[in-house]
Amino acid sequence: MVVTLDGPAGVGKTTLARKVAQELRVAFLDTGAMFRATALKLGEGAWDLPGEELDRRLAGITFSLSGMGRTSTLSCCGEPVGDEVRTERVGMWASHLAARPEVRERQKAAQRAMGADTPLVAEGRDMGTVVFPSAAHKFFLDADPRVRAGRRAAQLTQMGKKADLEAIEASIRARDDQDRNRAIAPLIPAPDAVVIDTSGLTLDEVFGRIMRSIRS
Ligand code: C5P
Repeated sequence: MVVTLDGPAGVGKTTLARKVAQELRVAFLDTGAMFRATALKLGEGAWDLPGEELDRRLAGITFSLSGMGRTSTLSCCGEPVGDEVRTERVGMWASHLAARPEVRERQKAAQRAMGADTPLVAEGRDMGTVVFPSAAHKFFLDADPRVRAGRRAAQLTQMGKKADLEAIEASIRARDDQDRNRAIAPLIPAPDAVVIDTSGLTLDEVFGRIMRSIRS
């Protein structure tokens, strides 16, 4: 069984997907973290490499998933992926790389292999449209960019980090634009996805809607 949660940057997918996975007692797969870990491993500018060279470097990057629910752990080349990938800068690198077909093919194969081994809640941009088109339950979350920037700023402040709301909003808008307008696997809802605008909803309200939809 696969549940997919897609949507733009900062919409709350990771928190919700982890919570849904915990409730269902299945693994949680953060595919954004896969793109981010790949971007960090390959370094700045890798998105401009020639196809063959890029593919050769990608061949050395492996992923695995262990645990379930809240304790699900994604590893890249045997090392757990941690908070080092969670900066806006790495997010932007990931977004540049994510437009390359070589990268998407490798990621899709790794994601499907993990989905074949274990039931999971998978979150990303193309889970319902491309990677798991026959998933049992699909959700697409959206929210106003200003609201998403505000949520991300609050998260950073809570972690004791500095947050510049204007800069975060500009980065979110730039990444949205790139993710929605790329030629391969653009960010769009699957035709059979339940679309939820989370702008005026709390996390618990969105969680409630998702769980009601799955249970019905
Ligand atoms: O979700 P997150 O912000 O961690 O994703 C980082 C970037 O990785 C996104 O902006 C997007 O370009 C890319 N991504 C993707 N497809 C996915 C997950 C993430 O293209 N399934």
